[in-house]
Amino acid sequence: MMHTEGMLKEGALKGKTIIVTGGGTGLGKSMGLYFLKLGANLVITSRKLDVLQGTAREMEKETGGTVLAVSCDVREIDQVESLFDQAEAAFGKVDGVLNNAAGNFISPTERLSTNAFNTVIDIVLKGSANVTMTAGKRWIQNKQKGTFLNIVTTYAWTGSGYVVPSAAAKAGVLAMTRSLAVEWAKYNIRSNAIAPGPFPTEGAWSRLLPGDLVKKFDPAKKVPVGRVGEHQELANLAAYLMSDYSSYVNGEVITIDGGEWLQGAGEFNNLEAIPQEMWDMLEASRGKKP
Ligand code: COA
Repeated sequence: MMHTEGMLKEGALKGKTIIVTGGGTGLGKSMGLYFLKLGANLVITSRKLDVLQGTAREMEKETGGTVLAVSCDVREIDQVESLFDQAEAAFGKVDGVLNNAAGNFISPTERLSTNAFNTVIDIVLKGSANVTMTAGKRWIQNKQKGTFLNIVTTYAWTGSGYVVPSAAAKAGVLAMTRSLAVEWAKYNIRSNAIAPGPFPTEGAWSRLLPGDLVKKFDPAKKVPVGRVGEHQELANLAAYLMSDYSSYVNGEVITIDGGEWLQGAGEFNNLEAIPQEMWDMLEASRGKKP
């Protein structure tokens, strides 16, 4: 067994139609591809139709599954409604939504314009709300069960400098996840979230850590298990939370970060820097043998 292998049983998502926002590239693409491998019908969305169509063709070729590519800016409610109309027309119904689309600017907060701040809030918080409200209203009206999975981040609860609009927006998405997990459970709608740590992607990494920054701030160095994540590890967790195997998991946020955020949080974790010889000396000074 390898951590880079798919984990769920074949056909675990058979018969389900799942929408992945931001599904044309990066982590959204990896999670969507695994849903497809597990038998789901997949709908991928972003603003770039050409990228989506390329990804859809590539995925269909690899799996023999069906992928619908729909251009949709999650900030625009009309486009979100049209996305659901198209998904329902193609597959009959939608069963799951992965709110993955995001926007983020790494910047000292005082350098951000009002419009920059609003742009991130609009995509991350209001965009996720647009998609969630549209899906939820339809599911409730059709008396149909549904599953939400929202991608957040560990700084949704710790906060983080230099990504303040993103932190505020993701905190909002997490609150929405937990709130609806309770309010909409009676409609057979579950809501969960994943907080991924560092998983390399072409887009976000080159944007958030441009040029040499990725070498200077090597994300693997901050992770107690000593490495960054493999996309399949995230896809395994996402597929589980999207599948009926997790029917009793509701309102949960699962962190998958190799221990990264706790590394920064634990008061004495920096004692990692103390070499064994120094511990030996400290122990000897207490009168014990090393
Ligand atoms: N840092 C700070 N401000 C920035 C910025 C940056 N890197 N890039 C854009 N802005 C500002 C713009 O100057 C503008 O503000 P202004 O009108 O006051 O000048 C505002 O943000 C909106 O920019 P604009 O380019 O018009 O936004 P957009 O809606 O076309 O695109 C994104 C915004 C986030 C969708 C786009 O940058 C994008 O596609 N990013 C990649 C996706 C992403 O970030 N994923 C997250 C991975 S974690």
